[in-house]
Amino acid sequence: GPVEITDAASMRAFSRERRARNQKVAFVPTMGSLHEGHLSLVRHAKDRAQIVVVSIYVNPTQFAPTEDFEEYPRQNKEDLRKLKEEGGVSAVFMPKNLYAPRNNRDSGTESSESEAEAEDDDTAAASTSDHQTWVSACKLERPLCGKTRPKFFRGVATVVCKLFNIVEPDVALFGEKDYQQLRVIQTMARELDFAVEVVGCPIFRVADGLAMSSRNALLAEGERKKALGISEALSKAAAAVEGLNEGDEVGAHVLCNLVRSTVEKYGGRVDYVDMVDERTLRRVKTVRKAKRSLIAVAAFYRSKHEGQEVRLIDNKVLGGE
Ligand code: PAJ
Repeated sequence: GPVEITDAASMRAFSRERRARNQKVAFVPTMGSLHEGHLSLVRHAKDRAQIVVVSIYVNPTQFAPTEDFEEYPRQNKEDLRKLKEEGGVSAVFMPKNLYAPRNNRDSGTESSESEAEAEDDDTAAASTSDHQTWVSACKLERPLCGKTRPKFFRGVATVVCKLFNIVEPDVALFGEKDYQQLRVIQTMARELDFAVEVVGCPIFRVADGLAMSSRNALLAEGERKKALGISEALSKAAAAVEGLNEGDEVGAHVLCNLVRSTVEKYGGRVDYVDMVDERTLRRVKTVRKAKRSLIAVAAFYRSKHEGQEVRLIDNKVLGGE
């Protein structure tokens, strides 16, 4: 089975040693609770390099204080078993904490400063960490998920930057399920000169269409059925675009309304539905059969944790074939 590594220095040493032997390192960052979607990334990784490293770390800086950081499923033993069974994974990096711990000095004069800091850093990590360096892919962070989760991509970009610096991979694999995340990381890697090829992998779905997600395990009884409305809605939009004649166009709002009403009919509460350019993630007004564009959706469902909601996302590239 894979080597388990918990500290950054050992992880870096492991990677450097392999690379010194001219072995390529492929990296799959995750937050654990591994499912077939994650394992599909591992398989793509094996195709691309001799050495595959998987990280498991529930990153507190990408959760707002109101979000499900505490409830997010954690099952490292299960995860290790799955990776061992999958085979071909050389190392699993499971750090305990990747952020500078808070320096708990008691001092009256500093209280106003730390209040200002807390205001700037409203994440699940704010009360436990003094971390102050952030990476942002500014324009790409604002649309889609950035509207309801304004600090989310800053947390993701920062932790992935840290992980890239520790693992020093040649290739890193990300799922298209989190499409905006993939674009943010590709942009960060390019603009900050990381020597990492960032590769996107197709969305892995359950037979009934639901995109696999660690959060599916948080759904209350009966909610999974409602969540099927998301993939059903995206398929309807895809069919509508496929049905167009060459040269015809359809308003983005028509497709967005179709998706919204389908998700709602199944019992989901829509966060957003948007039709965007697949590279810039800027809204498009019309869709044609010959041009690729992305339709993205986020919706809320009831959680098995009383009074909480589960937010699921999905997307589909329409047109272009
Ligand atoms: P996590 O949600 O665990 O996802 C880890 C990787 O698996 C991501 O690249 C995600 O896009 C991919 N993935 C999840 N479900 C998938 C599916 N059904 N099909 C294909 N790929 C899928 O994304 C994160 O963790 C974090 O934000 C992370 C990048 C690790 C930074 O903390």
